[in-house]
Amino acid sequence: MSEQASNQRIYSRIAGTGSYLPEKVLTNDDLAKIVDTSDEWITSRTGIRQRHVAAEGETTGDLAYHAAVRAMEAAGVEASEIDLIVLGTTTPDIVFPSTACLLQHRLGANGCPAFDVNAACSGFVYALSVADKFIRTGSAKTVLVVGAETLTRMVDWSERTTCVLFGDGAGAVVLKADTETGILSTHLHADGGKKELLWNPVGVSTGFKENEKNAGVRIRMAGSEVFKYAVKALDAIVDETLEANSLDRHDLDWLIPHQANLRIIEATARRLDMPMERVIVTVDKHGNTSSGSVPLALDEAIRSGKVERGQLLLLEAFGGGFTWGSALLRY
Ligand code: COA
Repeated sequence: MSEQASNQRIYSRIAGTGSYLPEKVLTNDDLAKIVDTSDEWITSRTGIRQRHVAAEGETTGDLAYHAAVRAMEAAGVEASEIDLIVLGTTTPDIVFPSTACLLQHRLGANGCPAFDVNAACSGFVYALSVADKFIRTGSAKTVLVVGAETLTRMVDWSERTTCVLFGDGAGAVVLKADTETGILSTHLHADGGKKELLWNPVGVSTGFKENEKNAGVRIRMAGSEVFKYAVKALDAIVDETLEANSLDRHDLDWLIPHQANLRIIEATARRLDMPMERVIVTVDKHGNTSSGSVPLALDEAIRSGKVERGQLLLLEAFGGGFTWGSALLRY
């Protein structure tokens, strides 16, 4: 990879987006047959009506591949042109190699660096931020950024407080170096002190005894505490993002939020004084797809013609860790 020679500002412009959802759909009524819940409860508390679930044998890498191919088609980019792959996931196919390496091989993007970023539900925004820095420093020109998850693989289907929330899916963007416009800034934060409010404690290096204790454990969450922290953290990061760019909240064209819960999305929209017509909502159809959620929502917004070239978009996410992040970009 060559270093940037001139002092001209380089932006990461979104050249194309793609997404993929597994075929199988699980509705709230389907879930009500498995656990003690109801469509009314899930819809009123979360806004979720259905979620997609990966088929047996279908992996995060499979979802990532289909989303990546669509993003590359939309960008008109061949695998040989990609000089970096960054993939956000907390549900990798295997411990190692990374899902990004598996994807690189399957795409035939041979030789370019490829790695995963684990920031739970903020994985895509973290990956986007890393990719942006490679482009801005002149270390890469064409980057594939993916958010892909099979969260339903680590859901306890007998635990009604968590199993109703998550779904599987993937989204991808191709970023290209551009001298005109693109990502204006990204902002990332974490608070590891809150790890036990949202986590999956099954480990690799925590040792035999710990793993025996946690055998069969799945996602654990203190729902209302996560809710309160998420709303505060997202309020703060949208303010931080606007301030960093000397922008007023009314300058934004679209909010493309992490799709965890409609009430959290509405709280952020209120903070920005944005009508819900300017907020991309897919949580009703996808549930919380973790790292997949923001690029899925972005791709849907672009393909539906809602988001147009030249518009100002604010992306944000919050997840286990805790982690949270944002990206402001001119599409
Ligand atoms: N169906 C029916 N009842 C349910 C239920 C379900 N799926 N899940 C929980 N309940 C019950 C609880 O057992 C509790 O019953 P109780 O009062 O008899 O004890 C009651 O509903 C209220 O539970 P509570 O957890 O206080 O509900 P809540 O209003 O906080 O909503 C969440 C729960 C999970 C929807 C909400 O806290 C939330 O969305 N939190 C954020 C989660 C999130 O976004 N995580 C991912 C971040 S990336």
